[in-house]
Amino acid sequence: MLEKILTEDGSYSFYNSVLNETYHSKKGALTESQYVYILKGLDFMIKNKPNMKELKVFEMGFGTGLNAVLAKRFAELNQVKLSYTSIDKYPLTDHEINSVKLKTLSKNELNILHSDWGKTIQISLFFNLCKIKDDFLNTNYINSFDIIFYDAFAYHAQPMMWSKSILKKSTDLLKKDGIWVSYCSKGIVRRIMENIGHTVKKIPGPPGKREMLRVTKN
Ligand SMILES: C[S@@+](CC[C@H](N)C(=O)[O-])C[C@H]1O[C@@H](n2cnc3c(N)ncnc32)[C@H](O)[C@@H]1O
Repeated sequence: MLEKILTEDGSYSFYNSVLNETYHSKKGALTESQYVYILKGLDFMIKNKPNMKELKVFEMGFGTGLNAVLAKRFAELNQVKLSYTSIDKYPLTDHEINSVKLKTLSKNELNILHSDWGKTIQISLFFNLCKIKDDFLNTNYINSFDIIFYDAFAYHAQPMMWSKSILKKSTDLLKKDGIWVSYCSKGIVRRIMENIGHTVKKIPGPPGKREMLRVTKN
């Protein structure tokens, strides 16, 4: 069901044959995560609010832990404290995660990948992590987060995750002026977000994707 794949930038990901969907872009898992979530999400946020030294991040879909590792590196590089909450309904096993992880990971970064679920753990001075094993549909943290990494499987594989009620649920997690980023650029998703009342921007996407979405909660 899960097949390890080598993506074009030399980083690994998985292909899920049941969903006919990969965990990351085949053009480069590392490149996509770094661009969509770190550069266009976290970096955009701190450039716009330079006084912000503590951010609460929510990730929909922990998967291989790649976004979490990159977020921790960003936090340390920029000396911004991140409280990172990530949810996954179907966590990968330690063995699966080890088979696709980045080659050079510090002890702290390995801790991100393999720490217990359901506990908040201080990974480093600038990064604490809470991994939640649950269905996103059960989340209920209204107006709590500064930024959402919305990393569900693509529309064709999980259309429900891109429906109005679930997208609204995802932006309900945000504080006012918080931002939501995703690799997705589908017109229907953009229109739903506009219809909910958010400001939606289509911005250039990572390699292989013309555009991606960044939404600001009004
Ligand atoms: C595209 S992958 C995420 C990749 C991940 N962010 C990474 O850095 O490797 C989508 C993830 O969403 C999870 N997922 C799918 N439906 C979910 C749901 N209803 N609630 C929570 N997690 C879900 C899947 O198990 C999968 O790990």
